[in-house]
Amino acid sequence: MQASVIRTTPFEGQQPGTSGLRKKVASFQQPHYLENFVQAIFDTQTKLAGGSLVLGGDGRFYNREAIQVILRMAAANGVARVLVGKGGILSTPAASCIIRKYQTQGGIVLSASHNPGGPSEDFGIKFNIDAGGPAPASVTNAIYQRTQTIDQYRILDADAVDLDQIGESRLGELVVQVIDPVADYAELMASLFDFNAIQQLFSSGSFRMRFDAMHAVTGPYAVEILERRLGAEPGTVMHGVPLEDFGGGHPDPNLVHAHELVELTSGAQGFDFGAASDGDGDRNMVLGRDFFVTPSDSLAVLAANAQLTPGYKHGISGVARSMPTSQAADRVAEALGVDCFETPTGWKFFGNLLDAGRITLCGEESFGTGSDHVREKDGLWAVLFWLNLIAAKRQSVAEIVHDHWRRFGRNYYTRHDYEGIDSDAAEGLIDHLRILLPSLPGQQLGGTNGGFKVAFADDFAYTDPIDGSVAEQQGIRIGFEGGARIVLRLSGTGTQGATLRVYIEQYEADSARHHLPVQEALAPLILIARELAQIESRTGRAQPDVIT
Ligand code: G1P
Ligand code: ZN
Repeated sequence: MQASVIRTTPFEGQQPGTSGLRKKVASFQQPHYLENFVQAIFDTQTKLAGGSLVLGGDGRFYNREAIQVILRMAAANGVARVLVGKGGILSTPAASCIIRKYQTQGGIVLSASHNPGGPSEDFGIKFNIDAGGPAPASVTNAIYQRTQTIDQYRILDADAVDLDQIGESRLGELVVQVIDPVADYAELMASLFDFNAIQQLFSSGSFRMRFDAMHAVTGPYAVEILERRLGAEPGTVMHGVPLEDFGGGHPDPNLVHAHELVELTSGAQGFDFGAASDGDGDRNMVLGRDFFVTPSDSLAVLAANAQLTPGYKHGISGVARSMPTSQAADRVAEALGVDCFETPTGWKFFGNLLDAGRITLCGEESFGTGSDHVREKDGLWAVLFWLNLIAAKRQSVAEIVHDHWRRFGRNYYTRHDYEGIDSDAAEGLIDHLRILLPSLPGQQLGGTNGGFKVAFADDFAYTDPIDGSVAEQQGIRIGFEGGARIVLRLSGTGTQGATLRVYIEQYEADSARHHLPVQEALAPLILIARELAQIESRTGRAQPDVIT
């Protein structure tokens, strides 16, 4: 077997976004496109030569082909060992778990997360560092810069590796170790949560749940953990077989895309608990009967009750949330007397805080929750955490959340997405807000009676408290007296046009006012946001495409 050096030229736009490089499959299928990016990883992450690497993906279309290419390139670039999930499968949190457990020099995860899959849909690739988390900006920038000057890559001439047999084989000098993608992760979960209590909950017969794997990567993980180890009835896991196109669906666990689950948990005969995860297994949605837990509330509830689970029985050191996430967790942190950090959108910003032991739990409004057990958000972990709380408290999901609101107050919260809008219009809208910002503080918006007085307005900038790195222009923040907020930012994960995300939040201390429909409770602020940002005139959209 021989390594070839292939001449190549740079591609435009191989800049990783919020979470890796995401493009249409057709982009990745261009000759040298994937290879250039992978070579840029090997050229800049020099510890990989002679080291080990974790490799796997969410099983979407092009996963297997890409894995074969990366294996042959790893061999030609002197990597000593690659741990690859059987069938090319690894969920994002499992990849993080395995990087940490076997102390590899990093990992490559193939996923476009919750974006649809298939020949005409999305594909993605991200590099995780040796701590197990997404590469920080210093690393992704170095990789991107390398893609701009790249003129060759190295690849072994070899046959495809059999990804479906667990065990070791060789590709030149490289040892390819095909591993069970589930075992290490399941063991970690069993060490964090009270599996006996959850087993009893299921065997009591009075508690029934459904988990929607959305034909994405969590199917095998959920079947093993929920049905085999915890004894949930067969069929608990829906859409449990990973498919290359996710069955034509959109593997995004929210009220729109997981509507089947919403229906199953509705009405008097509905299931007690429903949960779903996304394409690569890092997101989660949690439902009770006729009850939706916002991800922001979920983080706050987990933080307030962490000591009820074995893995967090000594309490939490601190909590962090992304800037657009509601401030519900801040109130819990205050009550517990621990720090609460506000970070920019994207999981990579939690890494340093977790490594330094400054936080135990963290989360994002975008259905992401996690802890220091890995360095990624973790969908099934959140589901097991909830099951542990339900078992320990002997309360329903709705009761747990209502109790929480009574104690801490409720942060009404919604996110409005305007998808696939013109990129220039989107940039123009944000520029317009940036110009407005200095004039906003002190202004009364939404009418002088019952309006909202602006307490601060800025373009969010974050200085990492651990390494001092600065991230600027992370979203427009308009804060009002009393804790209400409007946040606007553009998505960094889309592959077509721009997506404007508008986040609206209002705090309500009075428990007599905790049961309003969310959109109604937030209507005045929603209107202020639409007018201030001139959304309709600038984007041509009268309504958002997705409301969560
Ligand atoms: C979105 C979410 C963000 C999350 C990211 C990756 O990014 O908003 O919280 O970290 O996906 O899952 P966005 O498209 O908003 O840049
Ligand atoms: Zn994801």
